[in-house]
Amino acid sequence: MMNEKQLAAEKSIDYIKDGITLGLGTGSTVFFLVNKLAELVKHGLDVKCVSTSYQTSELAKNLGINTMQLNEVDYIDLTIDGADEVDRKLNGIKGGGGALLFEKIVATESKKVIWIVDSSKFVKKLGRFPLPVEVIPLAANHIIKRFKESGYNPIIRMNESKNYLTDSGNEIIDLHLHEIEDSIKLEQDIKLIPGVVEVG
Ligand code: A5P
Repeated sequence: MMNEKQLAAEKSIDYIKDGITLGLGTGSTVFFLVNKLAELVKHGLDVKCVSTSYQTSELAKNLGINTMQLNEVDYIDLTIDGADEVDRKLNGIKGGGGALLFEKIVATESKKVIWIVDSSKFVKKLGRFPLPVEVIPLAANHIIKRFKESGYNPIIRMNESKNYLTDSGNEIIDLHLHEIEDSIKLEQDIKLIPGVVEVG
């Protein structure tokens, strides 16, 4: 039986039209999308894809999907991506898989964005899922100190015994906030700190 992630991913295929430039997100839900897309490409669907991570690029290329760099395309018609948490107003948290920077850039350059999520991702208030913040490694300890002073419960993301590194060579600090009152203001406040690259 298909799980919800697969169902959501395969439903989103309906929105992919022949000839479009498609942004591909990152994560285990997008994995199902890319596999289904590869089947359609084998049967003649013509799409140019821009990926949001090394992980998705490798998967897509290995499955025979035409991938291009963001700078090689003029615009993206549609981006389909997962999310870690979504509230009723469709605010969300992204970056659980560490691809928040490219995901936000690609989404911003897209005419339309679809998030494919299973029912476990819906929340009344954002914040149960830790909020990822991508930072320049040089500044990480100082930014962590600031986050502690603000009561944000920061934890540097690890990959086994080393600090996790994003595709851009940055580090991620996960903020264990539990509840976010004003996600827009929080994002703006965090982005004002020098050394912060992006907020999920
Ligand atoms: C990647 O950095 C994330 O933003 C993912 O899109 C998000 O974590 C959803 O992942 P899953 O589809 O694996 O739940």
